[in-house]
Amino acid sequence: MSAPPVAPVKSAPLVDGFSRVHDDLRLSITDRCNLRCTYCLEEGVRFRPRDELLTLDELLRIAAVARSLGVRSVRVTGGEPLVRSDVVEVIAGLAELGFEDLSLTTNGTRLAALAAPLAAAGLQRVNVSCDSLREDRFGEVRRRGRLAQVLSAMEAAEAAGLSPLKVNVVLMRGVNDDEVLDFAEFAREHRRVVRFIEFMPLDAGGAWRRDRVVPSAEVLERIGARWPLEPAGREGDPAPADRFRFTDGGGEIGVIATVTQPFCGTCNRLRVTADGAVRNCLFSDEERSLRSLLRSGATDEQLAEVLRGAVADKRAGHGIDTPAFLRPRRSMSMIGG
Ligand code: GTP
Ligand code: 5AD
Ligand code: SF4
Repeated sequence: MSAPPVAPVKSAPLVDGFSRVHDDLRLSITDRCNLRCTYCLEEGVRFRPRDELLTLDELLRIAAVARSLGVRSVRVTGGEPLVRSDVVEVIAGLAELGFEDLSLTTNGTRLAALAAPLAAAGLQRVNVSCDSLREDRFGEVRRRGRLAQVLSAMEAAEAAGLSPLKVNVVLMRGVNDDEVLDFAEFAREHRRVVRFIEFMPLDAGGAWRRDRVVPSAEVLERIGARWPLEPAGREGDPAPADRFRFTDGGGEIGVIATVTQPFCGTCNRLRVTADGAVRNCLFSDEERSLRSLLRSGATDEQLAEVLRGAVADKRAGHGIDTPAFLRPRRSMSMIGG
């Protein structure tokens, strides 16, 4: 198979007022989801009318403009991206644009059947959310779906060559924090990169409270006491996860410590919501619509200007610990995680 053509970078990269280069795009392709995870969506959620969601062509046009501005990696998110019927075409179109890293974050419920077609379309890797290794608790946390389905999806993803496979676990105090060692063992046994995520104030139900956050330092201490760990990350890596490897060669885990150890200082991410708004931070409610521009015949340069403006206005950090912090109005499923 020949390498896809790489779109040339046509203009200055996306740099904000704190010298952070933005080369990572998180593209939400739908707000819809077939689960109702307690840390994300409420029962009875009303999704956006379909005509407010970006079409395939609109998604690809935005991605192409981002590519021309130096964006190198794209992560496709939702809602649940695999409930969108043209997701394979979305991936194929993105792959043609020549991004260095093309990945997708999924709840895993529909991945078993889609892993092979997605890989064939050019998807490189997937992150699968899974918050409990106990079937009954999985149902309590996610309200729908089955653990067995998600576990077989992980196998299908590996068989399709989607690698490395990462598993996202949102930890909540008193809900699943007793499974930290079970997940570490799971990581070792299957050589999957399990990442423990601090619960963030982005749930639609407003259940977030500071005392429900399980600090990543505690997670590392508990795992390290059983299987010694050493840092595996690189200095200055902009990714949210801090990486650690088992010193006995048993693989790798990660922690995402948004609340207790913010990593905003190295952020390289720009987001486009399912309804086509650019958002420069998970926690910022300032959005700029690309959809209206796209639907009124805007040029690529006009779209690029919106992306540049969003990056230029980015704040230094999320400020969860400051008195002025306000919970974002939109929940994770709309923003795309
Ligand atoms: P990799 O490239 O595989 O490291 O993926 P990722 O960790 O960037 O993406 P993923 O979709 O798996 O997200 C894992 C967790 O990180 C989710 O809870 C996201 O909401 C969170 N996350 C991703 N980007 C950001 C960010 O810019 N800020 C914060 N606070 N959290 C983020
Ligand atoms: N806090 C932390 N992570 C969350 N996710 C969804 N809601 C939250 C939250 N409130 C995670 C999902 C998925 C990713 C896209 O975001 O588990 O892995
Ligand atoms: Fe759906 Fe993902 Fe939100 Fe769970 S976290 S409800 S799987 S969008």
